[in-house]
Amino acid sequence: MDKVLLNSSVASLLMPLLLLFSIILDLASAVPFAERRQAVRVPSDLHTVRLTRNTVPKSRAVLSDRFRKFRGVAAGPTAAVPAGVATALPAYHDVEYLIDVKLGNTTFSLIIDTGSSDTWLVKEGFQCLNAALQTVSFVNCNFGPVFKGNFSGGQIPGQHFNISYGSGNGPFLNGQMGYSDLTLAGVTIPKQQIALATVGSWNGDGISSGILGLGLPGLTEAFKGNQPAEDGLQNLVNYSPVVTTVSSQVGNGIFSLGLSRNASTSFLALGGVPTFVKVGNYASTPIEKMSKQFGGSDYFFYTMTAEQLLWKNRTQSGQQQPLKVIVDSGTTLNLLPYNITRAVNAQYSPPAIYIPQQGGWFVPCNAVPPSFGVQIAGQVFWAETSSMILQQVRDPNTNYCATGFGTVEGEPWILGDVFFQGLVAVFDTGPSMEMRFAKRL
Ligand SMILES: *[C@@H]1O[C@H](CO)[C@@H](O)[C@H](O)[C@H]1NC(C)=O
Ligand SMILES: *[C@@H]1O[C@H](CO)[C@@H](O)[C@H](O)[C@H]1NC(C)=O
Ligand SMILES: *[C@@H]1O[C@H](CO)[C@@H](O)[C@H](O)[C@H]1NC(C)=O
Ligand SMILES: *[C@@H]1O[C@H](CO)[C@@H](O)[C@H](O)[C@H]1NC(C)=O
Ligand SMILES: *[C@@H]1O[C@H](CO)[C@@H](O)[C@H](O)[C@H]1NC(C)=O
Ligand SMILES: *[C@@H]1O[C@H](CO)[C@@H](O)[C@H](O)[C@H]1NC(C)=O
Repeated sequence: MDKVLLNSSVASLLMPLLLLFSIILDLASAVPFAERRQAVRVPSDLHTVRLTRNTVPKSRAVLSDRFRKFRGVAAGPTAAVPAGVATALPAYHDVEYLIDVKLGNTTFSLIIDTGSSDTWLVKEGFQCLNAALQTVSFVNCNFGPVFKGNFSGGQIPGQHFNISYGSGNGPFLNGQMGYSDLTLAGVTIPKQQIALATVGSWNGDGISSGILGLGLPGLTEAFKGNQPAEDGLQNLVNYSPVVTTVSSQVGNGIFSLGLSRNASTSFLALGGVPTFVKVGNYASTPIEKMSKQFGGSDYFFYTMTAEQLLWKNRTQSGQQQPLKVIVDSGTTLNLLPYNITRAVNAQYSPPAIYIPQQGGWFVPCNAVPPSFGVQIAGQVFWAETSSMILQQVRDPNTNYCATGFGTVEGEPWILGDVFFQGLVAVFDTGPSMEMRFAKRL
């Protein structure tokens, strides 16, 4: 998710039969504080889709069963080390992917987010705010189970957590920072710095208790002092996010994601790619630095260059100029420049229509999507046709389904969960600092 998520929310209280939320948008990609003011600006009325309750999320009990599926050992392609693998469970109308994370003796579902770097859970007693920043009932934030208790490794005095997702008035959270042991995918990370959210505005899914931020160190959002309203670059403190600390547990800086709307094949693996996953050739591309607002550059997002985007009939280049994109598991759709999104949406048969109330493009759910390819390191990854229509994200008036392509007002452009379908994505934050992609066979 972009840290500034786009969501909605308050209206859902008024419509008990509808869930209002943002297409995804970002539930989770964090915009680095330094970049936040320029990045990901989305009009607040965009990206709200109403979903009827007949697709309401499954209960946690059911989720826990499914999570057990992939316990085992992972390896390769460049790492033959033992590691862990777990189900990345598609949830909430297939707009997000969840993983089991254990703190103490309790297991929570967290959203898997490569677009932000803070891992947090909602703390018991959380104060839920509406968009006007008024305190409302906790249920309005629609969290899953709350974390009860304190940090097992102690709270960090004089530090707090302050994050916003999506656009300017999107969800945000303030809270405490501290250390806790975390277990995910069978790997225990001792003394991980995490946040417990105590107040904020959120549009939850009723299942997840927070976010697993797998982003790079440049994106973390801890601040010195105890005055969130005064937070800025001057009191930002850096810390090691999960992706850094887990690398010393598994012996390398590698994790892989094979996100699929079919839960039985959807995984997160630490330390490599599961041996049972069959793939074609890997294309490798560097993780790129982004420039900072006040000079210099750093690693923030999993940024890469898409050499071209192809659509129509697999032979015609749609966008021959390279495009810098971030690879973000916390964003549902591919969010691309308006001219590209409009052109791709026009190639559906029948063409997608833009529905202003939803801030997105929709098609009859049985429409035929165009072919769509992303060229990375010379190799074109063609999207699975079925991935390009979200069967569970519908406009209530037309009953049309969302397409896989939306837009935002500016960079970073995002390849979201739609892009991940049918691929294995390897995030290598070790010395080679690159991403590798391969088609799943
Ligand atoms: C966790 O479970 C173990 C074994 O059941 C128990 O001994 C321990 O006290 C529990 N820890 C907490 C924090 O509840
Ligand atoms: C958490 O810490 C606070 C403040 O130190 C304390 O009052 C509270 O009892 C603790 N809660 C638990 C469950 O240990
Ligand atoms: C921190 O949180 C406050 C609200 O508590 C908000 O007004 C402020 O903009 C936030 N600052 C940052 C840097 O996110
Ligand atoms: C999900 O994947 C499994 C394993 O490949 C397959 O057997 C099953 O048919 C798939 N389910 C759907 C709905 O495609
Ligand atoms: C795509 O190209 C093939 C031949 O290359 C052609 O037979 C087919 O009709 C084309 N489809 C569309 C939708 O243009
Ligand atoms: C979109 O606009 C950019 C910048 O104006 C241009 O370079 C690019 O070719 C356009 N792409 C398409 C597919 O129209």
